[in-house]
Amino acid sequence: MNEHPPKTYPWTLDERVFTAVTAYHEESAAAEYDRRMRQVRDVDGENRRLLDILGENGALGPEASLLEIGTGTGALARAAARRTGSVLAVDVSDAMLRYAKSAADKEGLTNIRFENAGFLSFDDSRPFEAAVSSLALHHINDAWKAEALSRLARALRPGGVFLLVDVVFDCRGGQLDEYVKRTYTAEKVGERMLADLYGHIAKESSTLRWIMDGIIKDAGLEILDFTGFGPIAHLYVCRKP
Ligand SMILES: C[S@@+](CC[C@H](N)C(=O)[O-])C[C@H]1O[C@@H](n2cnc3c(N)ncnc32)[C@H](O)[C@@H]1O
Repeated sequence: MNEHPPKTYPWTLDERVFTAVTAYHEESAAAEYDRRMRQVRDVDGENRRLLDILGENGALGPEASLLEIGTGTGALARAAARRTGSVLAVDVSDAMLRYAKSAADKEGLTNIRFENAGFLSFDDSRPFEAAVSSLALHHINDAWKAEALSRLARALRPGGVFLLVDVVFDCRGGQLDEYVKRTYTAEKVGERMLADLYGHIAKESSTLRWIMDGIIKDAGLEILDFTGFGPIAHLYVCRKP
C-alpha cells in the first residue's frame, strides 16, 4: 500500500490551484455544470455503460469498493453506490463535493465517502476493486499524470479495473490541427460543445494517445480497450495484472 497521507515536497503539484478548480468554487457553479452536462451529454447513459463494463469485468459487488477521482457533481458515484459495496468519491473542489453529497443524501445513499483530495492525495489506505476517472486527468500535466496513475495502480487490487474517460488526441506530433478539424466537427459534437472544446484544447493538458498509452502501461496497467466515449472523449478500459 502507499504511504497515506503522501509526503509532499517543494516541487509537489498543488492540485487545488487550477482555474478549472477555482471555477467550481460555489455550489451554484456545480449546479450549472450539472445542468449543462445533461444538455450536451447523455450522463446517465454514459454512467450505465461504465458500470456495465465494471460489472462484466467482475469489479463490482456487495464487498467491492470503487474509487472515483474527479467526481464533480457525483452522478457516477451515486449510480455506482447502487451497484457496489462502497464508493470513495474524490474531488479537489469543495463546492462540487457539497453538491454531490447533498444529492447523495437526498437519494438516501449511505455508502459513499466524499473526500476533498486529488489524484496525488486520495486516501489509498485500503485497496479498491474498481477505479474510474472521467474528464479530470487532463487538469494535470503529463509528468503528474504518470505519478497519478502509478499511485492509482498501486491502490488497485490485482485484477482490479480502471476506467479512464478523457479527451485524448489519437494522432502524432505535427497532425494536431488536422486531427481536430477532422474529428471535432459541429455535426459530431454540437456548436456549443465545440466552442468549449476549442478552449479546452488550447488551455488544458489533454494529451496524445501514444503518450497516454505509455503512461498507463508504465503505471503497471494493461489496456484492454480504447474506444470513443460520448461526444468528445475516449474511454480506456485497463486492468491491473
Ligand atoms: C470536468 S469535471 C468532470 C466531472 C465528472 N467526472 C464528469 O465526468 O462530468 C472535472 C472535475 O475534476 C475535478 N478535478 C480537477 N483537478 C483534479 C485533481 N487534480 N484531482 C481530483 N479532481 C480534480 C474538478 O474539481 C471537477 O469536479
